Amino acid sequence: MLFQTLAENKLSLANRIVMPPMATHLSPEGCVTEELCTHYAARASAGTGLIITEHCCIAQSGRADPRQLSVAEDSLLPGLTRLSSCVHASGPSKIFVQINHAGSQTQSSVTGCELMSASALPHPALTNAEKPRPLTQKEIADLVSQFALAAKRVRAAGFDGVEIHAAHGYLLNQFYSPLTNQRTDSYGSASLENRLRFLLETLDAVQAAVGADFPVAVRLGGSDYMPGGSTIADSVAAAQMLEEAGADILDISGGMCRYTRPEHKEAGWFSDMSQAIKKVVSIPVILTGGIKTRAQAEELLSKGAADMIGIGRAMLKDAAWSQKARTEVWEDSAKTQTAPCLALSLFP
Ligand SMILES: Cc1cc2nc3c(=O)[nH]c(=O)nc-3n(C[C@H](O)[C@H](O)[C@H](O)COP(=O)(O)O)c2cc1C
Repeated sequence: MLFQTLAENKLSLANRIVMPPMATHLSPEGCVTEELCTHYAARASAGTGLIITEHCCIAQSGRADPRQLSVAEDSLLPGLTRLSSCVHASGPSKIFVQINHAGSQTQSSVTGCELMSASALPHPALTNAEKPRPLTQKEIADLVSQFALAAKRVRAAGFDGVEIHAAHGYLLNQFYSPLTNQRTDSYGSASLENRLRFLLETLDAVQAAVGADFPVAVRLGGSDYMPGGSTIADSVAAAQMLEEAGADILDISGGMCRYTRPEHKEAGWFSDMSQAIKKVVSIPVILTGGIKTRAQAEELLSKGAADMIGIGRAMLKDAAWSQKARTEVWEDSAKTQTAPCLALSLFP
C-alpha cells in the first residue's frame, strides 16, 4: 500500500510516503541556500511521494528562529523557485511549503516585535516564556492577509501545494487550544467554532489567493494530551469543519504536546486520533510520529489509520529512506546521507 499511487482531483502522488516538515535552520536571513536545495533534492531523488518543507514564516512578527526559512517577502521568490526546481529535477516528488506564524512560541529578540498570541498567557510548553499580548481583531485580519500573500508566493515559486501550520503550539494552534485561548470575543474559547475561526479564515483566504486548482493542506495539532487542553473529540469535529471549508489534505499531529505524545513511544502515536478523523472525512489524512520502517507504515495504512505516512527523523537520518523502503535493501545510511543534520543535533 505504501507504494500505491494516490490520485486526488488536485494532486497525484507516486506513493504514500511523506517527508513531514522539519526545520533545518539552514536559512540565514530566511533565504534558500544550496545546502537546503541539496537536502530536499536528496529526499526527492530517493522517490519520496510528497515533501512538505520545514515551517516558513509568513511575517517577521512570526519568525520562530533566526535561521528559519521565510516566505514573507517577494524578494525571496528567486531562491524559493530554485528550491522547487531542484526538487522537481531530482525525482517524482511533489513539494508543498508549510507556512507558519509562531505567535508566542518565539522570542522578541528573534522577531524584533512584541510577542502576540490569542491571550496574554505565557506559552505553556516553554520555560522562561515571555508574556505575549492578545491580538486585536484588526491584527488577526492583517495576519490572515499575510498568510494569503505567503501562499500566493508559494504558488508563484513553482511549488505543488501549501500547508497551513496549525499544530505544535504555534499561533493558529494557540487559538485552537483552550490552554492558550481565554478570549471572550468571536475568536475565543466559548466554542470550538470560535477557536477555529482564525484557522478557517486563513484557509479561506489562502484558497482565494492560490486558486481552486492548487492543493491546500492543514497540519492540525488535534489534541494537546494535557489536562484542560484540546481533545481527540475536538479534532474529529475540527476535521469535519476543515473538510467542509475546502481543505484538501489533513496532516494530523499533536498540539501543545508538540509532535510527541506523553508516555507513548509506539509507531504512529497519533493513530487513534488520525483513525477517528479518517472515519469522518473523505479527504486524505497524513499520520506521522515514531514510524521508522516500511512494515510499520504498511500496518498503519492497512488498518485505516491514514492514507499517507510521514517519515520524519528516520528520513532526516537517511536521505535514501524511500528508495530503501521500496527495494528493501538497507545499506549503510552513512553512504546515502547527503546533508549535515544540524536539525537532528537540535532535536534528537
Ligand atoms: C528537527 C525537527 C524539526 C521539525 N520541524 C517541524 C516543522 O518545521 N513543522 C512541523 O510541522 N513539524 C516539525 N517537526 C515535527 C515533524 O514533522 C514530525 O511530526 C516529528 O518529527 C515526528 O515524526 P518522526 O517520529 O517520524 O520524526 C520537526 C521535527 C524535528 C525532529
